[in-house]
Amino acid sequence: MDFATFIPVLMINGILITITILLIIAEKMLISYGKCKIKVKHGGETREFTVEGGTNLLSNLTSNGVAINSSCGGKGSCGYCKVRVLEGGGQILPTEEIFMSRKEIKNQMRLACQVKIKEDITIEIPDYLTVIRQMVINKKFNTKKRWKVNIK
Ligand code: FES
Repeated sequence: MDFATFIPVLMINGILITITILLIIAEKMLISYGKCKIKVKHGGETREFTVEGGTNLLSNLTSNGVAINSSCGGKGSCGYCKVRVLEGGGQILPTEEIFMSRKEIKNQMRLACQVKIKEDITIEIPDYLTVIRQMVINKKFNTKKRWKVNIK
């Protein structure tokens, strides 16, 4: 194959990349979600803070001192940042579904790094220690495998 056969592919890729960049810029410039409230329920306590709409849930939680498990830095590849979205948050994304059981999806679990704040949102942070302790007690925790937590 010579280089000339790749020119149409390169042109199509260039057009798609340009369109993607333009859409991202247009969204940032034209769409404003304003200020949104995040209500966080965890361990019997409730915290609330106001953030800029259009931003990411995980980054807002960590910047407001709410600790969330994460090993991929919010890239959506580890599946550890699970939270339960009680209100707001929109539909679960296909990029999240691969990390969720059917039961978790039914129970409104989401990956915090994949949730964009577009409206007021209420979330609940699951008690991971209790979940893992229960897995050890039930002898379902296999240290030889990369662990995966499914939350009821
Ligand atoms: S931080 Fe890794 S999937 Fe969300």
